[in-house]
Amino acid sequence: MLGGGPVRLAERTVVVTGAAGGIGRAIALRCAAEGARVAVTDVQAAALERVGVELGAGHLAAACDVTDSDALSAMIERVEAELGPVDVFFANAGVAIGEDPVDTPGEVWDRAFAVNVRAHVLAARRLLPGWLDRGEGYFVATASAAGLLTQIGSAPYAVTKHAAVGFAEWLSVTYGDRGLRVSCLCPMGVRTAMTAGDGLAERVVKGAGALLEPEQVADAVITAIESEQFLILPHPEVLTFFQRKAMDYERWLAGMRRLQARTETG
Ligand SMILES: NC(=O)c1ccc[n+]([C@@H]2O[C@H](COP(=O)([O-])OP(=O)(O)OC[C@H]3O[C@@H](n4cnc5c(N)ncnc54)[C@H](O)[C@@H]3O)[C@@H](O)[C@H]2O)c1
Repeated sequence: MLGGGPVRLAERTVVVTGAAGGIGRAIALRCAAEGARVAVTDVQAAALERVGVELGAGHLAAACDVTDSDALSAMIERVEAELGPVDVFFANAGVAIGEDPVDTPGEVWDRAFAVNVRAHVLAARRLLPGWLDRGEGYFVATASAAGLLTQIGSAPYAVTKHAAVGFAEWLSVTYGDRGLRVSCLCPMGVRTAMTAGDGLAERVVKGAGALLEPEQVADAVITAIESEQFLILPHPEVLTFFQRKAMDYERWLAGMRRLQARTETG
């Protein structure tokens, strides 16, 4: 049972979305090492298959677009049939797309909302009834430090990650006393395909602090889950920045404008 004491992943059924590489793959492999039965999903079928091979027997790789409600439901049904009811769902798939609102087409905004926010809503809608019946369940949203602070260079990323934090927060407030546990992962830079480019947003991310390895993030996630901590901050300084923002919003905005100016010219 998840309810009650510290959460252990052994013998749990875990789903990780966006697990063809990067943070999702690292979380999946770490959960398997903890003894969980792991299902991984992603739109990148070939890379996902390779993660399935790394996971080995007793786990499942099932490609799916998490923005497609029917496909998501079918994937979860398959997981339930083959591995058992889902105990922990990592809504980790994400896209870092779009820049300035003037140059970013509507379709890009729609996709950012669909993957970074609406997919979390679809998963919660599918899983919550079962979790509330059983009185237990764990939803882990991968947002970003951009969801607590901002993302210089990408309005869609900053906005959708704030929304992901808002949704996770809402779930915790609403269902936290009915057995649902919720955590929200908010890293700064992590060395994955997402930070491989050299656009403005990528430069800011790589200049903002340590560029962590996905495995370090997975370690932070497992530790936070075991202690049922809402905010998962693999870069601890994010808490200080977040506190500064809350303490003096005007000063924080002025500081961020300076950072924006430095990054554009640098
Ligand atoms: N890398 C960083 O610096 C960083 C920092 C903070 C937060 N994040 C977040 O971490 C999460 C994982 O990103 P990552 O850094 O490992 O990069 P990544 O690009 O390796 O992983 C994202 C994965 O999501 C998958 N995906 C995208 N759309 C999907 C869809 N519709 N259905 C299913 N899968 C889909 C992609 O195929 C990809 O494999 C994302 O939510 C990202 O926003 C990353």
